[in-house]
Amino acid sequence: MAIDAAELRHAMANLAGGVNVVCCRAYDQDHAMTATAVVSVSLDPPLVLFCVAHTSRFWEAVSKTDQWTISILAEKGRSDAEWLATKGRPLDRQLDKVRHERTDAGIAVLSESLTWLECRTFSQTTAGDHDIVVGEVDRAVVKTGEQPLVYWRSRYTSLATPGSASAGNQ
Ligand SMILES: Cc1cc2nc3c(=O)[nH]c(=O)nc-3n(C[C@H](O)[C@H](O)[C@H](O)COP(=O)(O)O)c2cc1C
Repeated sequence: MAIDAAELRHAMANLAGGVNVVCCRAYDQDHAMTATAVVSVSLDPPLVLFCVAHTSRFWEAVSKTDQWTISILAEKGRSDAEWLATKGRPLDRQLDKVRHERTDAGIAVLSESLTWLECRTFSQTTAGDHDIVVGEVDRAVVKTGEQPLVYWRSRYTSLATPGSASAGNQ
């Protein structure tokens, strides 16, 4: 018999992950969602994926368009990640609080990021209560000099730097 949701959540909390924000435009407005379920999939063609819950408004939005971005957040993007993971926040002008730029296609990418990717949907498949959205990467912009934002055991944290006793936490 399969384990239940609480057990899986508890078990997977030990999987440290980089924090990302996925953005798209649909219904004439910006949509954005904090996501750790982001994976690099293939080099040829260049594919990445993210997983999106059917309960999120982002799922509805990304199902209406084939263009989206992934911003891989820097440590400084923590408040952006917190805001864009807040259930029920107003969608209208939700990016007013978030430093961002726009791709040529007009999709937001976050300024407090290490890398951002511009993607087109390659496939979208249902897996349980989520969809797995695979995208072909049209453009990648890579920055240097910042540390990544990490999520581990239900907390935002940082990579330990040489000489530090432990990673900084909340
Ligand atoms: C650190 C972190 C990572 C998350 N990763 C994901 C994810 O990979 N996929 C997902 O569907 N939701 C994820 N969530 C939850 C969404 O960010 C959250 O449900 C958000 O409010 C969805 O926004 P929406 O309902 O406005 O679309 C994550 C939340 C946090 C705090």
